[in-house]
Amino acid sequence: MIDTHCHIDFRDFDRDRAEVIADAVACGVDRLINIGADIESSRRSLHLAETHDNIFCTVGVHPHDSKTLTPEFLKEMEAMAASRKVVGIGEIGLDYYRNLSPHDIQKKAFIQQLDLAAALHRPVVIHVREAMDDALQIIQGYAGKMRGVFHCFPGTTEQAKRLAGIGFLISVNGVLTYKNSRMAKVAQEVDLEMVLIETDCPYLTPEPHRGQRNTPAYVRFVCHKLAEIRRMDVADIDKITTRNAEKLFRLVDMFE
Ligand code: NI
Repeated sequence: MIDTHCHIDFRDFDRDRAEVIADAVACGVDRLINIGADIESSRRSLHLAETHDNIFCTVGVHPHDSKTLTPEFLKEMEAMAASRKVVGIGEIGLDYYRNLSPHDIQKKAFIQQLDLAAALHRPVVIHVREAMDDALQIIQGYAGKMRGVFHCFPGTTEQAKRLAGIGFLISVNGVLTYKNSRMAKVAQEVDLEMVLIETDCPYLTPEPHRGQRNTPAYVRFVCHKLAEIRRMDVADIDKITTRNAEKLFRLVDMFE
């Protein structure tokens, strides 16, 4: 299994990071993609990836921190992406829920990083909250030029299908296990070829551990829930979602 979206560089893991990684492997989660969210966490993600064979990373600036995206950091991201362990640009996107950066600045940072990803031929990891219409409109302009995933998918089945049409994927996480989640309905209705699993840890802990810190090992609860929703074997869901992630992030090429 692959946890395609985790943040184990965060302070929440400072006291037991090595155990958290070992525990994930022991639970069958053999690869992790650690996601950059700002300048510092992108640097820490790259460091983790370069010091662990089974960790890959992305670099990028989250919409909350759009204000901090400088031309210097864009250059640094490009330099970091020369590493084979940087498998994408992200997380980037639009967040009109918390609105920690003004909308026009969020859009500008999103587009600058999409342009960088297109130039580097890297997939993107997209965070969207309460901004699906604007995000879809912007992404439409990159159709055919890049691939990517809308992580912690916040949209409808119809929006997911539009994304599939332009080669984009969605990822699901602990939210699947919460009561009345729209994510569960979407996960039931879309083509499995467009679905990845993730934790977004330390956030969004799946049941039955909700309320505690989330960790990559818990991606197995997401896999189990998806299997239950689709009425399929866990092993088949694991196989399909792992292959989807390997293809999107080109994890297989890495060993050829
Ligand atoms: Ni995240």
